[in-house]
Amino acid sequence: MDTNLSQVAKDLVANGRGIFAADAGPKTLAKRAAEINLSLETVDQRLKYRTMTISTPGLSQYIGGVILHEEAMSLVSVLNQQGIKAGLKVDQGTVEMTSGSIEKITEGLEKLDQKLADASQAGAKFSKWRAVIIISSATPSSANVEANCETLARYAKLSQKAGLVPIIEPEVLMEGTHPLERCADVTRLVGKKMFASLLKHEIDLTGMLYKPNMVLAGKDCPSQPTVTEIAQKTVEVMQEIVPPKVPGIVFLSGGQEAGSATQRLNEIAKLGGGSPWRWSFSFERGLEGPAMQTWQGQEANIVAAQKMLLHRAKCNSLASLGKYTAEVEHEI
Ligand code: 13P
Repeated sequence: MDTNLSQVAKDLVANGRGIFAADAGPKTLAKRAAEINLSLETVDQRLKYRTMTISTPGLSQYIGGVILHEEAMSLVSVLNQQGIKAGLKVDQGTVEMTSGSIEKITEGLEKLDQKLADASQAGAKFSKWRAVIIISSATPSSANVEANCETLARYAKLSQKAGLVPIIEPEVLMEGTHPLERCADVTRLVGKKMFASLLKHEIDLTGMLYKPNMVLAGKDCPSQPTVTEIAQKTVEVMQEIVPPKVPGIVFLSGGQEAGSATQRLNEIAKLGGGSPWRWSFSFERGLEGPAMQTWQGQEANIVAAQKMLLHRAKCNSLASLGKYTAEVEHEI
């Protein structure tokens, strides 16, 4: 066991803190901005936006680590000044698994060694790799689950070797009409395969964080489960797949409405009280979505946008402890 890796992994989610995934790539960020008539087409525009979010005063009370995109690595010092650990998204995004397939695999193992060494040199303490699993009548295929878990485990090994805590993110997407039970089955299958691959590659489970999806019904499923049903299923599946040595489960928000993601996390933390790991968050849209809306690209809105981000960070921090309430939500 590498005590340094274990300590960093624990610290990232200690004292009610979670992670801010500020690592959306240029295309994704520009697309999200365009949906609200904002332009984030150039690196300079995006850096301005990214700097605005991560320099929010007081953020370190609720956020232990921020995942950066490589185009924003110059912002490590801004985070360090705030007492927040910097991480780097090191995958290169997804491509079709085979020509014409709807399934994806994640690229980026080539030259990963160098990238991790550079990140560590620049002051990063952790890294992230995301794989996506698609639910449809014909997917996921076992080949796709196998390939994604193997790649994630190989990434995790290299990350730990470079002294960076890996955040391991196999995301089962919420697109589709499938019911809650189907998402539970797929999340369980992926999780079991994931931890088997981590075992095979001798990953130090104390020096990593697991970043799964919550167990949800497909976005277009006609019968949507309640918050309690979602939390019960999520806790049940996580208890089946995640070994007790893992210090934290940090959920992604995955396109859920920001307030719903918070409520569900809160219920998960309440129902899963007494579990060996910390329940927390590693949200992107669930944290910065409302802030981007408030900002509107205007200098005059920076304070209000930062207030919005801080508010969501606070709500999610309380939710990670099962202490979120409607009163806190309406404080802003
Ligand atoms: P969302 O919370 O928007 O799902 O993003 C998390 C993330 O890190 C995606 O890779």
